[in-house]
Amino acid sequence: MSEFDTIIRGGTVVTASDTVRADVGIRGGRIVAVAESLTGGAKEIDASGLLVMPGGIDSHVHLAQPAFGGPAMADDFESGTRSAIAGGNTTVLPFALQPRGASLRQSVMDYHKEAEGKCYCDYGFHLIISDPTASVLGQELPALVEDGYTSFKVFMTYDDLVLNDRQLLDVFDCARGCGALVMVHCEGYDAIRFMTQKLEAAGKTAPYYHGTSRPQSVEREATHRAISHAELTDVPIMVVHVSGREPMEQIRWAQQKGLKVYGETCPQYVALTAEDMKGLNMDESGGKYVCSPPPRDHASWDAIWEGIRTGVFQTFSSDHCAFYYEGEMGKLNPKARTSFRWVPNGIPGVETRMQILFSKGVVEGRITLNEFVALTSTNHAKIYGLYPKKGSIAPGFDADIVLWDANRKETITQSLMHHAADYTPYEGMVVTGWPVMTLLRGKVMAEDRRIVGAPGDGGFLKRELSPYAVPAGSGGAMGMAGA
Ligand code: URP
Ligand code: ZN
Ligand code: ZN
Ligand code: ZN
Repeated sequence: MSEFDTIIRGGTVVTASDTVRADVGIRGGRIVAVAESLTGGAKEIDASGLLVMPGGIDSHVHLAQPAFGGPAMADDFESGTRSAIAGGNTTVLPFALQPRGASLRQSVMDYHKEAEGKCYCDYGFHLIISDPTASVLGQELPALVEDGYTSFKVFMTYDDLVLNDRQLLDVFDCARGCGALVMVHCEGYDAIRFMTQKLEAAGKTAPYYHGTSRPQSVEREATHRAISHAELTDVPIMVVHVSGREPMEQIRWAQQKGLKVYGETCPQYVALTAEDMKGLNMDESGGKYVCSPPPRDHASWDAIWEGIRTGVFQTFSSDHCAFYYEGEMGKLNPKARTSFRWVPNGIPGVETRMQILFSKGVVEGRITLNEFVALTSTNHAKIYGLYPKKGSIAPGFDADIVLWDANRKETITQSLMHHAADYTPYEGMVVTGWPVMTLLRGKVMAEDRRIVGAPGDGGFLKRELSPYAVPAGSGGAMGMAGA
């Protein structure tokens, strides 16, 4: 009998705190040893010349969500997690969405059926609350939190999802009682509707005007409002998918005041701009890049990097939300051609998140390797109740590992992607740094570009309460160090 099922030999192990030359010993799907030199492996993986990092945790992806009359999402759990694992990720956190009028518990059960047996990586669910009725707040949510769905997302825009201020306050208050962490989509509904009507009346309906309809002031106002409600209810919040300086500075202001406000940003806010939404010539091809908040400009990229470097943002997620580009049900469906307002919001990105952050962040000297690991894995695990099971390389953690070639140069292109969508918004972007092997609980799932694992290898993660969700007024949080 060998001491280890697998030894990953000769690599450089990178965690959120350390970079060391070490071998990693795996037994029973978990890391059991990290040492200068290990022997006695039934199998060995040569990692010389490679970085050995915790598998990516993408805490913000949308898979197989209900369509609300618009086009269906391109990625279900199978294609979405296949894309995730190919991109070096071992855990994703998609959203179980409660349509208005529906029971949240039933929505969660339905979502489990979508995922069961289909996943190439591990997964947990956040809950999207669109209808915070008394029974949802009083019974369903507390029970679901107990069952391991320990984070909610609420929206301040979108016809089918928007909550008014009173409803936001009710959900925040409920989260405080249950110990759940609330993620907030901060864009002001009324301002966007006002702008949309003005633009349409002026004939400005091309995809480019999606961005014009929701400028940073709209995001800043909503961010400030969410922060104020969080302060009033004494509940920590995570402001998701932050696009530029204005909202970033609101979060920084809140943090400097001592409020527990966390921030997330995404690749599209350091790699795409509003110009992309113009398409080739103010045509519909700009629709490829329509997401909310919209990509902004180069000054915004700089502001996002400032927020990343100074710790305003704890997580870098993809907000993967893929729609087909071509076809009747694509981003350019006949209705979408009549106005940007009908272009489905969201872009694919789970497979390119880590490469874009590595290339623009580590290779271009903006962040350290350890910060890269924190931003792509460790902080997600800590904030969303998966630590110390996921998110680092040390004895006791799941053997979720990505072997990374820091020198490999690649041009991102659709033919390399494993998602179901028919395009990547990062087509033609040259990156340095690429995942060459992904292991899920010790099993090799992706090797170079080939998927060698099976759908069903990934399992559901019942998550613990987030230590980050402990209210400031309740006597202090634990586990806050390092993020
Ligand atoms: O445009 C986007 N981001 N669509 C996904 C849904 C959301 O708001 O995160
Ligand atoms: Zn959102
Ligand atoms: Zn710049
Ligand atoms: Zn999203």
